[in-house]
Amino acid sequence: MTLADPAWRTIRPTEGGLAVEIIDQTELPFRLVRRVLRTLEQAAEAIVTMRVRGAPLIGATAAYGVALAMREDSSDAGLQRARACLAQTRPTAVNLQGALDRMVRVLAPLAPSARFDAAMAEAGRLCEEDVAICRRIGEHGLGLIEAAARRRAGAPVQILTHCNAGRLACIDWGTATAPIYLAHARGIPLHVWVDETRPRNQGAAITAFELGHAGVPHTVIADNVGGHLMQHGEVDLCLVGADRVTRRGDVANKIGTYLKALAAFDNGVPFYVALPSTTVDWTLEDGVREIPIERRDGAELTHIRGVGADGRIHEVRIVPEGSPAANWAFDVTPARYITGFVTERGVCEASESGLLRLFPEHAGRGGAASG
Ligand code: MRU
Repeated sequence: MTLADPAWRTIRPTEGGLAVEIIDQTELPFRLVRRVLRTLEQAAEAIVTMRVRGAPLIGATAAYGVALAMREDSSDAGLQRARACLAQTRPTAVNLQGALDRMVRVLAPLAPSARFDAAMAEAGRLCEEDVAICRRIGEHGLGLIEAAARRRAGAPVQILTHCNAGRLACIDWGTATAPIYLAHARGIPLHVWVDETRPRNQGAAITAFELGHAGVPHTVIADNVGGHLMQHGEVDLCLVGADRVTRRGDVANKIGTYLKALAAFDNGVPFYVALPSTTVDWTLEDGVREIPIERRDGAELTHIRGVGADGRIHEVRIVPEGSPAANWAFDVTPARYITGFVTERGVCEASESGLLRLFPEHAGRGGAASG
């Protein structure tokens, strides 16, 4: 795995541009399996079941999902059906809505016969833009790691991350991981504490997988360890991703992010959120009240998958039979606990004025979500 590596692209056209290939993340870290999506329904299923996941990749898959729908039915009704089907797959990441709005904006004025080709091209552009955005997030975030390295005076910079905001959550590079890959490539000694991220273990399964392949030193920790490490000076900075950020800077991200931010605040550890501007919902203010939080099947909590001694993948129950389980997938970290945002246009304060300094085009109120 190199810094920007086509072999690790999470989504791309295949079969002569008539279908789309993904990495099936439900198979990680056990097997690297690629799957082909040929229909709208397959794209929607891939998002719902989290074969693809992570805010930017959900958006990209939705864009390609619209394109696949145009292959079967490129009428106005077909376009609206595709949008409605994909819009209800996952509620929290605003990139989904942004990508669907963008596809409809581009396709609606076209003749139906032109829509499939235009949709594939637009989805491809959206992916290329995401790669460029993540690369720029990496360049801007690199300065934070360089500063921490100077304070560490040669000892590895200790970075804590939650969930997977890596290249597998995007098209390439990742958001939170892009500065890490760049710093590692420049020879800055660093080490990443990887929160396991129950219940779906995106940290243990996916972040550890991609950091391992990139040769980045890392250690998987249980979700509850971060506070202890921060109390003992073992974390120089936290760097996480986001699924939806309100215009005043509240951040929805994977469940448990809020508790890490509280621990960081209490211990004076800088807590940064890396985000592409496509993750800002400029229509919302108060994240705790306004961001829709996905609740998923309790089976994700009561059951766990792993490789047995026989080398095969098994799923086992870890909760008493009959005990109910509740599974909130995201939480909201209020802006006041966030040291700053790392965006494609630079680092800013987690506030409306901070965001508008970098994105002044959103100064007007009540605009549509960017995307
Ligand atoms: O439920 P998931 O795995 O889609 O949640 C992913 C996250 O919470 C990521 O941190 C977020 O999408 C940022 S991805 C660059």
